[in-house]
Amino acid sequence: MSALISEPAALPTRPVSARLAAPLGPLLRSRLVGALASPHGVDRYLERFHPMWAAHDVRARIVSIHRETEGDAPVATLTLQPTSTWRGHRAGQHVLVGVEIPGVAKRYTRAFSISSAASGKGESFTLTIRAHDEGQVSSYLVRAAEAGQVIHLSQAQGEFTLVESPATPTISRSLFITGGSGITPAMSMIRTLLRDGYQRNGVAHAGRKVTFLHFARSAEDQIFAAELAAIAEADNGIDVHLRYGDQVFSEFELRRLVPDYKETDTWLCGPPGLVELVKAAYGDSTRLRMEFFKPVVARAARPGEEIEGDVAFTRSGKTVAASGASLLEQAEELGLKPEFGCRMGICFSCTRTKTAGTVRNILTGEESAVPDEEVRICVTAAAGDCHIDL
Ligand SMILES: Cc1cc2nc3c(=O)[nH]c(=O)nc-3n(C[C@H](O)[C@H](O)[C@H](O)COP(=O)(O)OP(=O)(O)OC[C@H]3O[C@@H](n4cnc5c(N)ncnc54)[C@H](O)[C@@H]3O)c2cc1C
Ligand code: FES
Repeated sequence: MSALISEPAALPTRPVSARLAAPLGPLLRSRLVGALASPHGVDRYLERFHPMWAAHDVRARIVSIHRETEGDAPVATLTLQPTSTWRGHRAGQHVLVGVEIPGVAKRYTRAFSISSAASGKGESFTLTIRAHDEGQVSSYLVRAAEAGQVIHLSQAQGEFTLVESPATPTISRSLFITGGSGITPAMSMIRTLLRDGYQRNGVAHAGRKVTFLHFARSAEDQIFAAELAAIAEADNGIDVHLRYGDQVFSEFELRRLVPDYKETDTWLCGPPGLVELVKAAYGDSTRLRMEFFKPVVARAARPGEEIEGDVAFTRSGKTVAASGASLLEQAEELGLKPEFGCRMGICFSCTRTKTAGTVRNILTGEESAVPDEEVRICVTAAAGDCHIDL
C-alpha cells in the first residue's frame, strides 16, 4: 500500500510534517479511521493539517505556470505535482479540476485534458489551458493562479486514449486532427509515442507513420510551437501539418495527406465546426474517435419535431416554454445560476431532481418519464412539460 500523500521526494522543500505523516497512510485509509472521521471523511481533517495530505482525495500543487501564447485568449501550461493518491493517466485522458477562486465562497469544477505524456502513480503532469474572456476558471488559472497553490483533482478519466483498433496493425499509421486547445490530448499521445519509442509488446516499430494535422487561428496562437517545429524536423516518422486562419479543413487535403484516412486510426479533438467537417469526411468509418470540449450535436428535438410544453423550475417558481435547449441553458435564460462544471455530462455537478415530466438526453437522444429522477441538466432537455427541483 502506498504512503500517505506528501511532497515528492524530488522537491527539496518537502516539509518535515509531511515526511513524519507518510508511514500513517495505511492506518488513515482504514475503515476504523473512516468511521471515526464520519461524516466529513478523513481527508477533510488531513487537509487542515497540510494541503498535500490526503488518504483518498487527489490534490496537486502548481509547480510552475508557463505562458504558451499571449493575445486576447492567452494559453498557459500548468505543471502539477499531485499527491501520491494520483493513480497516473493514459495519454488522451482528462481530469476534473476543482478550484477555489479568491473572494468567491465556492469551488468551481472544470474538465481539462492532460497535455503531458502518460504519467505513473504520483508523477507530475501538465494541463494546457486557454483563458476564455468570460470564463471564470480558465481565466483565473491562466491569468491569476500562482506556483505553490494547491488545487483539487479527480483521477484521470475518459476513453479517448491511445488504443488502436484491433483491426489495425499497430505499426501502420496514426492520424491526429486537432484545432485550437483541442491539441492537448493529441499532444499527450504524441509525447507518449516519442518517449516510449512506439513500442508494442516490448518491440519498437521504427516504421510507424504518424500524421498530425492541426488548425490554429494564427501562428501567434499556436500552442507548443517550438516543440512542434522540433518534432517536424526530426527523423521520427511524424509528419506535422499546421494550418492557420482561413486554411480550413478540407477532405481534399486530408485525402492528399493520408489517402487511406478512412482506414486509419484517427483521433479528433477541436471546435464544433472542425468536428462536423471531419465527421462528414469519415462517414460511417469506425476509425474516427472524438473528444469534445463542448457538446457538438444538440439532439433535444428530433428532426422536424416541435417540442410542446413548459419547464417549471419549482424551487424558484419560474417557468419557461421548452425550447430544446438544455435545462441548464433554459434556467440561465431565466437568470437562474445553477451549479455547473463541465457542461458536458461528465462531472455530475449540475445534477438536479426532475420531479415530473419527460426529458431527453441531448447526447444520446434517449427519453425518460421516470418521476423523481436525478438528471444532469447540462445534457438534458425537456421533451414536454416537466418539473425540475431548482
Ligand atoms: C473533456 C474536456 C477536456 C477539456 N480540455 C481542455 C483543455 O485541455 N484546455 C482547455 O483550455 N479547455 C479544455 N476544456 C474546456 C474547459 O473545461 C472549460 O470549459 C473552459 O476552460 C471554459 O471554462 P471557464 O470556467 O473558463 O468558463 P465558464 O465560466 O464555464 O464559461 C464557459 C461558457 O459557459 C457559458 N456560461 C457560463 N455561465 C453562464 C451563464 N450564467 N449564463 C449563460 N451561459 C453561461 C458561456 O457560454 C461561457 O462562455 C475541456 C473540456 C472538456 C469537457
Ligand atoms: S456540468 Fe458537468 S455533468 Fe453537467
